[in-house]
Formats: sequence, C-alpha cells, structure tokens
Amino acid sequence: TTPQLLAGKRVVITAGPTVEAIDPVRYLSNHSTGKMGFALARACVAAGADVILIAGGKVALPTPLNVTRIDVLSAQEMLIAVQQCVDGTHSALQYVPEDEHDHSHDHSHDHSHEHAHHHEHHGECDCGDDRSHNHSHELDNKHHAHSENQNVMADIFIATAAVADYRTEEAAPQKIKKTQDAMTLSLVKNPDILATISLAHPELFVVGFAAETQDIERYARGKLVAKDLDLIACNDVSRADIGFASDDNAMQVFFSERYEQAAVTLEKASKDKIAEQLAGIIGETIWQ
Ligand code: C5P
Repeated sequence: TTPQLLAGKRVVITAGPTVEAIDPVRYLSNHSTGKMGFALARACVAAGADVILIAGGKVALPTPLNVTRIDVLSAQEMLIAVQQCVDGTHSALQYVPEDEHDHSHDHSHDHSHEHAHHHEHHGECDCGDDRSHNHSHELDNKHHAHSENQNVMADIFIATAAVADYRTEEAAPQKIKKTQDAMTLSLVKNPDILATISLAHPELFVVGFAAETQDIERYARGKLVAKDLDLIACNDVSRADIGFASDDNAMQVFFSERYEQAAVTLEKASKDKIAEQLAGIIGETIWQ
C-alpha cells in the first residue's frame, strides 16, 4: 500500500494542452495529451490527497477515480479555474447534493462517501455546440464536493499543462474566409499560470514542469527561482523515447534552496511509476 504522505492535502493539478480559438472552427494548440497530469492525479489520490484536475484543450483521457475534474479550453480559462480552485471558490467545489443538505452538520454518519468525487466525464461533450465548450462540465457531476469543502484553500499546486505561450489577440466571431493569398495572425502572450499562482500564494507548495533540450539544470533552476517554485520536474525532450505522447518518462527533479536536497534523478519508467515517485517526493518535501 502507498504511504499516505498526502493525507488531507488538497492538490490542484493542470494537465493537457490549451486551445486558443482563431475563429469558431479553428484553433492553436499543441500535442500534449495530459497523460503526465492524469497519472499524477491518480498517484496523489493513492497517497491520500483530495485532487482537483483541471484539463485544458480536449484531453481524451478518462477521469481518474475520486478526482474532481474541470475541463477548460484556453489559458485564460485555465488561469481563472486554477485561481478559483486554489481559493476553494470554484463552483465545482461548492455543489451540495440535494439529499445531503440535512446531514451537513451530522458528524455521526460515515463520511467516506463525501470524498468520492466521481466525475464520469469521458472525452467529448455531446452538447453539440463547440463554442460552448468553454463551460466546465462540473454540473454534470452528481457526487461533487460536499459543503464541508467550501472555500478550502489548496495546499499544493502542480502545473503539468502545456499552456500555449501565445493566443490570438481576438478570436474572429465568424469563420475566416480563404479570400486572401496570405494572412497574418496577430498573437499576444498568454498569462503564465504557474508564475501567477505561485507568486500570489507564497504559502502554497508549488511544483512546475519543464521540457528542455539543453542546459537542463541551468534553465530549470532559473524557472524555479523566477516562478518561486518548491520543486521543478524536467524532462529532456531531445530524447525521442520519452515525453509528450510517450507512455514513458524520465526526469530530473530540482528542489528550492529551502530544502536540504538539491536534486533527484528519476530513471526512465512508465508515467504512472514516475508519477508515484513524484507524489512521494512531494509528500516527503511538504513536511520539511
Ligand atoms: O516557462 P515554461 O513554459 O517552460 O514553464 C513550464 C511550466 O510552467 C510548466 O509547469 C507549465 O505548466 C507552466 N506554465 C503555465 N502557464 C504558462 C506557461 C507555462 O502554467 N503560460
């Protein structure tokens, strides 16, 4: 059995790509699948955490058991969702099932079911309107967070999402016609979700990811300091056998100077195994 190093900890995880609309039918995105974030969500649940998974873009992975999943599309939507989840104010954390209203102050009954946040949202929504996908799907969920969870601040934020660095300045309201021989898209920088959340919440334990092709340690440590992270997990994306769509990963984890340990190398293994090791490292570090 997994040591319950994250027992009682609320963990917010971002995963997958973001999707930045160009017009109602086109978008900018990337090849992230969300596998690492979803594996981490499972590993954190196994270590006893209360996990909220914010999936960007169109992640086609089943929701891990006992995880509260929130689907968003763009970086801007992801930032708002993360802010609300870290503050405990997101509507997905407020829903109180009708039949539980009367029991909210009854501490004599079995509470185990209250932590079963099943969100059975599998892949595509069938609402038939692509443009409405910027809503979250939390209202589908009949087993969401109990009233006791209202405004519970998160303890840990893990950013695995491959957030688009740029978005279109403005999505065209109508489909863009191919009347011109050439066209230019005007792009603006997206918010850095990890840095924004980390710098606004010094008490939050924050874990970043980085994909580097060279000078891994130097770039990783630069981000660790600039974004005020506790840990940063890096994969070497110049290796063809790991990363992005692969089921395997290998990582170097660097620690903030606040901690005794400086770095740990996680040898090539399945993303599930890497996620278990990362959850263990987070669990051990958070108690220091
Ligand atoms: O600076 P860089 O994009 O390499 O940082 C990667 C880390 O920052 C990842 O943890 C990623 O999830 C996060 N990030 C973010 N928002 C952005 C860009 C990156 O949360 N706009």
